[in-house]
Amino acid sequence: MFSRLNTVAFQGVDVITIDVQVQISPGNHGFTIVGLPDKAVGESKERVRSAFHAMGLSLPFRRITVNLAPADVQKEGSHYDLPIALGLLATMKAIPSDSLEEYFALGELSLDSRLAPISGVLPAALHAASFEKGIICPHASGGEAAWAGEINILAAENLLSLVNHFKGIQVLSPPAPLMEEVSHRKELDLRDIKGQETAKRALEVAASGGHNLLMLGPPGAGKSMLASRLPGILPSLTPSEALEVTMIHSLAGQLNEGKLIRTRPFRDPHHSASMPALVGGGLRAQPGEISLAHHGVLFLDELPEFQRATLEALRQPLESGKTVVSRANAHVTYPSRVQLVAAMNPCRCGYLGDPGRACSRAPKCAQDYQAKISGPLLDRIDLHIEVAEVSADDLTRPSLGEESAVVSERVKRVRDIQEARYQGLGVSIHLNAHADGELLDEIATPDEAGKLLLKKAAHNFKLSARGYRRVMRVARTFADMNGSSSVLEEHIAEALSYRHLHFSS
Ligand SMILES: Nc1ncnc2c1ncn2[C@@H]1O[C@H](COP(=O)(O)OP(=O)(O)OP(=O)(O)O)[C@@H](O)[C@H]1O
Ligand SMILES: [Mg+2]
Repeated sequence: MFSRLNTVAFQGVDVITIDVQVQISPGNHGFTIVGLPDKAVGESKERVRSAFHAMGLSLPFRRITVNLAPADVQKEGSHYDLPIALGLLATMKAIPSDSLEEYFALGELSLDSRLAPISGVLPAALHAASFEKGIICPHASGGEAAWAGEINILAAENLLSLVNHFKGIQVLSPPAPLMEEVSHRKELDLRDIKGQETAKRALEVAASGGHNLLMLGPPGAGKSMLASRLPGILPSLTPSEALEVTMIHSLAGQLNEGKLIRTRPFRDPHHSASMPALVGGGLRAQPGEISLAHHGVLFLDELPEFQRATLEALRQPLESGKTVVSRANAHVTYPSRVQLVAAMNPCRCGYLGDPGRACSRAPKCAQDYQAKISGPLLDRIDLHIEVAEVSADDLTRPSLGEESAVVSERVKRVRDIQEARYQGLGVSIHLNAHADGELLDEIATPDEAGKLLLKKAAHNFKLSARGYRRVMRVARTFADMNGSSSVLEEHIAEALSYRHLHFSS
């Protein structure tokens, strides 16, 4: 007696078809799972046995063998419970064996035969759709699976309702796609920030061109406050971006009730975060914070306090927009196109440059503190700004600044200009921050006066090749913000002003 059905394995965001083969043969009583199962998959036997018992069924007193093929792919996670249980039910003729052919199945069983939500249902459903097949999953994950398009979805509360469905006793109705409400967090408005006009302007530039931003300033100057206002001025996700972001959160098991994510991610991991937490990987490969921030903002507050190796590991993803995690038997890739915002104090005590409050080790302590951030990482940050303390006068005056909604309109306009330009050029990028090489030369070569200024600055400030191109990139954004088709001297001049003195490169 034999039956088979499909389920999936995940390798990064890639989904692999797994063939679940179930055989019940005469011989000694036993239940074996083969095909490189990890501990969670191995324990599946006990959950399946108990779930059957809860339905009033007992496993046949024969030899049961489950093979998960291909045998050389590591099988991880608890979602193999459901396909194994369904395969057994089909082999035992409790459900028609041909009923499973048109589906991929995944879900975790509870001891009482209920189906518990699992991670990765959306990518699995998209994978099933590419084979024109349906998906069987837990009821709680149905809203997520429904985003895969016109496919058959059986989202069941428990194993018994699936048996009843296949027997035609009680047919399951298809779930509706669920979507997150877009909430504008009123409490995080730019208007709350008093003074700090330069920093607010830098925030707008960063949002407009997708540039990475580093803020340096004394404690309490408002750096964290500024960073938290960035998502509020960014446009909401496009439908294809929303699907990508939701897919990554689904893989990490971080989807809120299986709803499609529509607001741009903002992730602010603590500086004690480990390398796997930030970059991804670990015992069971999981997307890290940098991938969870895909198409959104990764905010690293107190930058020098992060472990050095962890920060260095961010260099490659920041450049390429994807993270490659090496595992014992494979490399897995997660998308991680993020906008990095970092904040730091100029030195450990934080008051460098303030003669009244700086510690006795200044400026040596500042050099040590800032040296924790490597040059190559700084090179990947287009905008470096100093956030000075706000004066008591500024703080007592009522705020006259613009609301996030107004700034966000302008940001959207500048992003539209970039989108149109890159579409016209037939390249796949959308923002100035990602332009490089010949493309950057083509779109951001300044006029003669601008060239001269850039040359002088390169000489005087000893700009590195990367630093030079960083200025061109930011200048392109200034030109777009001013509605200018070419990059002029004034744009270069403004771009040069966003290079921090301590970190000239
Ligand atoms: N420009 C400002 N307008 C209004 N309130 C401000 C401003 N700057 C700071 N504050 C107030 O000071 C508090 C501290 O600001 P914030 O946490 O952003 O400082 P920080 O620069 O991140 O400091 P640290 O270096 O210690 O992390 C804020 O919660 C806010 O109440
Ligand atoms: Mg802070």
